[in-house]
Amino acid sequence: MKGLILSGGKGTRLRPITHTQAKQLVPVANKPILFYGIEALVQAGIDDIGIIVGETKREIVAACGDGSQFGCKFTYIDQPNPLGLAHAVLTAEEYINGDRFIMYLGDNLVVEGVTRFVKQFEKNAPNAQILLEHVRNPSDYGVAELDGDRVMKLVEKPKEPKSDLALVGVYLFDQNIFDAARAIKPSFRNELEITDAIQYLIDQGLEVVPHTIRGWWKDTGSVEDLLEANRLVLERLEPESQGKVDASSEIVGNVVLDKGSEIRNSVVRGPSIIGRNTKIIDSYVGSFSSIYNDTTIIGSEIEHSVVLESCLIENIGVRIEDSLIGKNVNIQRGDRKPKALRFVLGDNSEVGLV
Ligand code: TTP
Repeated sequence: MKGLILSGGKGTRLRPITHTQAKQLVPVANKPILFYGIEALVQAGIDDIGIIVGETKREIVAACGDGSQFGCKFTYIDQPNPLGLAHAVLTAEEYINGDRFIMYLGDNLVVEGVTRFVKQFEKNAPNAQILLEHVRNPSDYGVAELDGDRVMKLVEKPKEPKSDLALVGVYLFDQNIFDAARAIKPSFRNELEITDAIQYLIDQGLEVVPHTIRGWWKDTGSVEDLLEANRLVLERLEPESQGKVDASSEIVGNVVLDKGSEIRNSVVRGPSIIGRNTKIIDSYVGSFSSIYNDTTIIGSEIEHSVVLESCLIENIGVRIEDSLIGKNVNIQRGDRKPKALRFVLGDNSEVGLV
């Protein structure tokens, strides 16, 4: 069986971060989201993985390499335009070459992994198997209607959902999905939708079966979801210290301090992770914070936030919370009068003064 990870797309919901970087490489608990998916596939015994790439190809290839660091082999597949998940499937037809495969959306996190899901597919060999999770707000998702252990209908964001089973971004297919993806028409947003392709399989009388997961799943496509995924991954964090903590600092709860990190005259409350060569000075880093590599925080407070590499956060008089801060960002307070806010913000930035 092969793997297919979708790592192209537009990433509009994570702008401005995605103006300059692939959303699949944004770190969750200081590890790129994409790596969680790759590791889940490898853990399920899949070592031949195709990665769909778009305009961020160079970055994805630089981060993932040939797959040897994960114990698998990668084939990069160019999708010239992000025309939908079913379009991505078609782009991979030559690579899949008649095999059965697992398709995994590169910005999704499935904490229990996919091993049980893959085993069930290998054992029962249906034409397709979809992963489902019970959710509280099914109207926000693609929803599956079941009849026993068969999927009867998929409805995208139904106003009156007939079930609370949302489609998770992991699917298993045999080669019938290619005919289905060819048969469907683009949706109102001009994309070839995977839900339409799967519905086509059902309508053709092919066997599409559900698998409901026990753990949690997160689509990290928006800032809120990314922060929640970060929180959920940090909750399972094992503490580890490869950094330096001075006598006037306090580490509370499960905290990971990466190599070369330094905590001076500060409090770091877990679960939190502090990246390589990152310095926390005269500051408070609260729970559910992931501060990536080479960042410096001085005289400031931050909590429930993700900060990427090489940032400087200095002397901010109020606590920063629920924030996603991109690479090389400087946030500093000076002592000049009159007091004012001075911004250099990229397109689609968001600043909340609360
Ligand atoms: P989405 O999050 O559905 O789409 P998107 O990346 O375009 O994001 P947004 O809605 O914010 O604009 O995509 C899910 C995953 O599939 C993600 O990793 C990107 C990838 N993808 C492709 O590889 N090709 C595609 O044509 C599309 C639509 C998505």
